[in-house]
Amino acid sequence: MNDLEPLVQEAHADFAQAVTPADLENAKARFLGKSGRITEQLKALGALAPDEKKARGALINAAKQQIEAALNARREALAHAELQTQLEGEALDVSLPGRQRGSGGLHPISRARERIEAIFGSMGFDVADGPEIETDWYSFTALNNPENHPARSMQDTFYVDMKDEHGAWLNLRPHTSPMQVRYARAHAKKYEGAAVMPDIRVIAPGRTYRVDSDATHSPMFHQVEGLWVGENVSFKDLKAMYLDFIRAFFETDELKLRFRPSYFPFTEPSAEIDIMFERGPLKGRWLEVSGSGQVHPQVIRNMGLDPERYIGFAFGSGIDRLAMLRYGISDLRLFFDGDLRFLNQFE
Ligand code: PHE
Repeated sequence: MNDLEPLVQEAHADFAQAVTPADLENAKARFLGKSGRITEQLKALGALAPDEKKARGALINAAKQQIEAALNARREALAHAELQTQLEGEALDVSLPGRQRGSGGLHPISRARERIEAIFGSMGFDVADGPEIETDWYSFTALNNPENHPARSMQDTFYVDMKDEHGAWLNLRPHTSPMQVRYARAHAKKYEGAAVMPDIRVIAPGRTYRVDSDATHSPMFHQVEGLWVGENVSFKDLKAMYLDFIRAFFETDELKLRFRPSYFPFTEPSAEIDIMFERGPLKGRWLEVSGSGQVHPQVIRNMGLDPERYIGFAFGSGIDRLAMLRYGISDLRLFFDGDLRFLNQFE
């Protein structure tokens, strides 16, 4: 071991302690700078005899090279560490789940409505849409529900601050039944003068309004009207058709249906349609799902058709009610609160 070895060791230790490039430059200066320790050694060479100078010079140079090598190694290590820190700082954690946008979904009422449309569509029914702001005539009078008749209070509706051309207040339709008359009139007009008129087979789903609000009633709700008019239709067709529909809707044949006598101004006779599941959580209870009946002759006349020739059957079912039964929901208001915790379950 020569006397320069400790100096080389010291340089190694100093460089190792440098944690920034500036630290390292300062350390370098202490050994290799103008008045650094190696430089001083070289300066001292001048005082030596020529033959000693050569040997000493070689030793000092070797030490200098070792120190320079240590310096370069440390420089590289610091640069590498700096790069490493930077990479870590900018790292993407690809194992984190990505931020997702909600995918959205159909509202359960819309799902039920689409289901109803698909089933009736497959049975050859047209699907019609009509105005939610109705005239007095379509909502009531045309449906054999004359002004001041007590039956009007069955549907305590909302009125709009605007009158129609006959001076009657417009209303938010309290049921989809106005669509019976609207659709039938258009159909009758289309086939006016023709030898035969194809049967009218239509459903009209949509929003309806009544002054009502509790767990099973909402001021805005949904109905689907159904109408079948022809020369040869009977109550049995209505019953068979509705049974087919309701079994398809609930995806079960283990379901009974009954017609219970009722009253509506626009049908005679009239019936409520009740269903009973023979299985599942709702088993054994009669549940009312629809009003129905044979279209009153006066309504047939208001459709522009001859009641001596045409006979019609109609029903009006609550879409919300059907959706509640299908999805097992006990409070109608959940549909309209807009709470995503509820709605997300239907995606
Ligand atoms: N419009 C009636 C209601 O809202 C239901 C109904 C429709 C009854 C068609 C008979 C025929 O209660």
